[in-house]
Amino acid sequence: MAGNLTFTMIKPDAVEKNAIGPILKIINEAGFRINAMKYTRLSAGQAGRFYEIHKGRPFYEALVEFMSSGPIVAVLLEKDNAVEDFRKLIGATNPENADTGTIRNLFATNVQMNAVHGSDSDENALIESSFFFSEMERF
Ligand code: CMP
Repeated sequence: MAGNLTFTMIKPDAVEKNAIGPILKIINEAGFRINAMKYTRLSAGQAGRFYEIHKGRPFYEALVEFMSSGPIVAVLLEKDNAVEDFRKLIGATNPENADTGTIRNLFATNVQMNAVHGSDSDENALIESSFFFSEMERF
């Protein structure tokens, strides 16, 4: 089961661009099923905890500020090979390097405001999803 889950956030820049619907459509059409979903806003403290792994890197403070600057959509997704397939679907972290047609190619602003997050491992998908969702919010 663990290999079939990945976690994403539609970030404040993409929400601001009114891209929630178009992004979810691409995700659904790529074969991912929504297991849990929440429209919410992170405090700076919560964003700092979510991205704690990046603490100390030069972009960390600005990332925390950006991720708490407006609402986000948190989504737990299910599919065979979910982590790897989702990372292909969203493209490289820096949209300048993202393949044509990927979500970041279509919707990102820059390397920080890159429209969506995607888990980088099965282990982190579980950690990130339990940050947002309780057992009774998952279907
Ligand atoms: P994400 O996949 O959510 O994981 C960490 C985030 O940090 C990344 O997307 C970007 O939003 C941000 N990030 C990563 N590298 C850089 C960078 N070099 N400069 C600014 N922001 C970055």
